[in-house]
Amino acid sequence: MSETTASTPYGTLPAASPLPPRKPVSLPRLQDMRERGEKITMLTAYDATFAAVADSAGVECLLIGDSLGMVCQGLSSTVGVTLDAMCYHVECVTRGLRRVQGTAWVIGDLPFGSYHESKEQAIRSASALLHAGAHMIKLEGGGWTTDTVRFLVERGIPVCAHLGLTPQTVHALGGYRVQGRSESDALRLKRDALELQDAGAAMLVLEMVPAALAAEVTQQLLRCHTIGIGSGNGTAGQVLVMHDMLGVNLGKTPKFVRNFMEGASSVRDAMASYVRAVKDGSFPDNASHAW
Ligand code: KIV
Repeated sequence: MSETTASTPYGTLPAASPLPPRKPVSLPRLQDMRERGEKITMLTAYDATFAAVADSAGVECLLIGDSLGMVCQGLSSTVGVTLDAMCYHVECVTRGLRRVQGTAWVIGDLPFGSYHESKEQAIRSASALLHAGAHMIKLEGGGWTTDTVRFLVERGIPVCAHLGLTPQTVHALGGYRVQGRSESDALRLKRDALELQDAGAAMLVLEMVPAALAAEVTQQLLRCHTIGIGSGNGTAGQVLVMHDMLGVNLGKTPKFVRNFMEGASSVRDAMASYVRAVKDGSFPDNASHAW
């Protein structure tokens, strides 16, 4: 029996997806969705089983986020997450996807300290995530990251940028707060976003940015797809931390989260209802999930 068909005594593969088979998610497919006005769905994933379930629920993009420091490792921030830990979880996710012939687009997060030193360090770290199975890497920040993004993209590495609340700099930001509220912060965020698109970033996570600002940035970036978290419903797509949307958050549930397990009959059902809600525009609701 091949690795892709074998079951194990400790949890079997998720039952076949009720959805029609889809082609592998790729950058051209995401661009096509954007042009058709179809929202892009993303969830975080950290292990084989949940990755396979999310894929079978129709989630297009899986982010192995450094939020794993909090939800898997029990850390109080993402700052202590290492590149080795990221590679381990990327491998777990991509192995799970392979076993179910999954088609999701896989994004690996570059952790704090793995791209800050130099462009050369960034490409070494990005290569480690790609060797582990990621299709794209994500890094946080604007301005100083632009040259690094260009350097990676020129070398064939798809990049997702991340602006707004950037958890790796939580200590400098003074906490997990909404970003881009003042005129000068909003202007800087818009400028950083345009520079990142020009440098070749194909996606941009906007975290805890006022809904109106996130929508404006989205209108400006036609080649770089904005993925919001706590940034309203005007972005090209949405992402949530899987544990949050399954209602197993150990701390205070952020305002921008909906517990999709409520009323769901299974984890896959909850994820499928997240996909439907993002695509039909009912999640997030600007009145209750955004600023
Ligand atoms: O690390 C992570 O999971 C993230 C998402 C919250 C966007 O960066």
